[in-house]
Amino acid sequence: MSTNDIDHLKHEAAARAVEYVQNGMKVGLGSGSTSEAFINLLGARVRGGLDIIGVPTSERTAQLARSLGIALGNLNDLAPLDLDVDGADESDHNLDLIKGGGGALLREKIVAASAKKMIVMIHGPKLVEKMGAFPLPIEVLEFGHAETARRISAVIKSLGYGDVPLVLRKKGDAVYKTDSNNVIYDAAFGPVISETAKLANALSCVPGVVEHGLYIGIATTLIVARPEGIEVIE
Ligand code: 5RP
Repeated sequence: MSTNDIDHLKHEAAARAVEYVQNGMKVGLGSGSTSEAFINLLGARVRGGLDIIGVPTSERTAQLARSLGIALGNLNDLAPLDLDVDGADESDHNLDLIKGGGGALLREKIVAASAKKMIVMIHGPKLVEKMGAFPLPIEVLEFGHAETARRISAVIKSLGYGDVPLVLRKKGDAVYKTDSNNVIYDAAFGPVISETAKLANALSCVPGVVEHGLYIGIATTLIVARPEGIEVIE
């Protein structure tokens, strides 16, 4: 699939997602290119008179939404949200997800967990039998991060996955920093993740892990865009 084809599918998924937004809603705004397609379409509806308030999941999303005239508010004041709309890096058929390819997994998960519904937009190849071909992002406090990574590796090994490479995310030559000033390790499992909840809980228990990109039981609606059409899984 060419980049143009993928961009087209992302746009199609976003166009279906924007139909879920109704007047007066409080809406979580995801991060990443599919979310940006959604926010652009939402901006057009706002300019057409739709009255909503958004809660952004990253500084980049906040900047884009503001530039389009979408009113933004604070999660503390607005939770519970009516809807959260976001992309994902992978989904399985239970609607469990891997997110965080764009580095916004922490705020994205807080916002998604605070919404009554989470709509996830993906294109076909991201729907998989077993997750893990996309490396799992794990956000870690910078303090002692190499030691935290060693503990993460040990926990992963104890669950039977063997020696899974953990790669400290970089931006150019520098260590990548999230909006919350943490670092990210990407865990290259390969497409073998089973018992996702067990892995998610084990990672959450490692001191120094701030959040990981496994979203278990949070998504309520998956919009899958393929060249032959849109599938909605609920
Ligand atoms: C950012 C995310 C994104 O939703 C995910 O990486 C998908 O991005 P894209 O829509 O660009 O493919 O989790 O943290």
